[in-house]
Amino acid sequence: MTMNHRHFLLVSLPFQSHINPAFRLATKLIRAGAQVTLATTVDGLKTRPAVPGLSYHFFFDDGAAGKPGYIQKIKLVGPTNLKKLLVTVANEGHKVDFLIYGICLPWVAEVAREHHVPSALFYIQSAASFSVAYHLYKTDGGLVNTDIDYTGTLKVPGLPLLKYSEVPPFLLPTDPLALVFQEHIEIVEKDPNSFVLLNSFNYLEEESIEAVSDRINIFSVGPLVSGETEEPYVSDTFQDSDRGTYLRWLDSKPEKSVVYVSFGSLVKLQKNQREEIFQGLIELGYLFLWVIRDQGEDDEDLRCSTAGDGGLIVRWCSQVDVLNHVAIGCFVSHCGWNSTLESLVGGVPMVGCPQNADQKMNAKMVEEVWGNGVKAVADCGGVVGREEIKRCLELVMGSEEIKRNCEKLKSMAMEAVAEGGSSHRNLNQFL
Ligand code: UDX
Repeated sequence: MTMNHRHFLLVSLPFQSHINPAFRLATKLIRAGAQVTLATTVDGLKTRPAVPGLSYHFFFDDGAAGKPGYIQKIKLVGPTNLKKLLVTVANEGHKVDFLIYGICLPWVAEVAREHHVPSALFYIQSAASFSVAYHLYKTDGGLVNTDIDYTGTLKVPGLPLLKYSEVPPFLLPTDPLALVFQEHIEIVEKDPNSFVLLNSFNYLEEESIEAVSDRINIFSVGPLVSGETEEPYVSDTFQDSDRGTYLRWLDSKPEKSVVYVSFGSLVKLQKNQREEIFQGLIELGYLFLWVIRDQGEDDEDLRCSTAGDGGLIVRWCSQVDVLNHVAIGCFVSHCGWNSTLESLVGGVPMVGCPQNADQKMNAKMVEEVWGNGVKAVADCGGVVGREEIKRCLELVMGSEEIKRNCEKLKSMAMEAVAEGGSSHRNLNQFL
């Protein structure tokens, strides 16, 4: 095999927000001449787009996906099953040269060591999130060894001062998952055969990337989302069954007139939060396309009220296609990292309504650092009221400055992944 025909085994958790970027990374590696096997757990994928050079493999995870303790459970059965998989693909004549693993799967690095192949952590969140993890858990001077006052702030090089409530909670030592991130950092810090791939780009997060690159072999190769419409995409459990309907509906709307509302693949909004967003949109008279995955009887009122032409509610959509549609003027989002990047690549301004995980930090970056949107302020019960929604929507839909920032970020993203751009160079250097 020539260098470019190396065989990468990419191991991902079976969740939408992990599988989407893993699939996109796989296609990038293939375009650069590599051969890739994407491995996830059985039942992990509903759709598996055929891509020349890409094969899919599945391993057993004890059937506990999404249930409490899943990350610990998969660690018990994963290594044995992954080793079997390595033997299977080697017997098929495709010996694995390199293992890439998503977050929460640090045990894959151990399997790589046993098999004498190098490995890379594919960090599916921002460079900022990685940098916080690194500065908390690095062996030399990790902030976790200092007295943490959770009512205070955290200073991480290259980032605005973070309140502890803005730090991704799973990175803090008070959360059981933090041990997994600590392990990730230990592995990539100590092992010279260990690398980190980031779904970000130098222009966007230069300071965070620089703040870790002294001691970590890190390559920012994003944004991995191409921005092409009709991009093939994988799906874990969701079906894009309303596609014809929402695309036709969008086609009939004026340019930049529709507010797209979606909270990713995991967040479940409280009924009163849905109601406040809905009322805000109705009172402003904005058109909207809204993804509500878990529609129940509670949403009957909402559906009835959107029976006119003003709004459309779907259970799922091809988000990249929607964000690249000319009719979309704004994205009301929880600011999951994939959604944040997809919005940025689509040049769509955001109203951030962060709920959990890394979302508060992402929304803060959107408002304070990148200027491509605003962060809605929740009341003391954690709900963003209709007046606040209206304030944010009017600001974002009307601001020329935010629009300019969106256009700039979009063009910088395109430049990063184009031939000779920073992410393109980084990917080639990694290969
Ligand atoms: C989770 C965390 O919640 C998030 O904070 C973290 O950054 C990544 O892991 P999730 O909440 O699912 O992710 O959000 P996000 O990262 O935005 O990923 C959702 C993915 O589902 C996106 O790629 C989006 O394009 C896709 N999606 C969502 C669709 O394709 N269609 C939809 O209707 C909704």
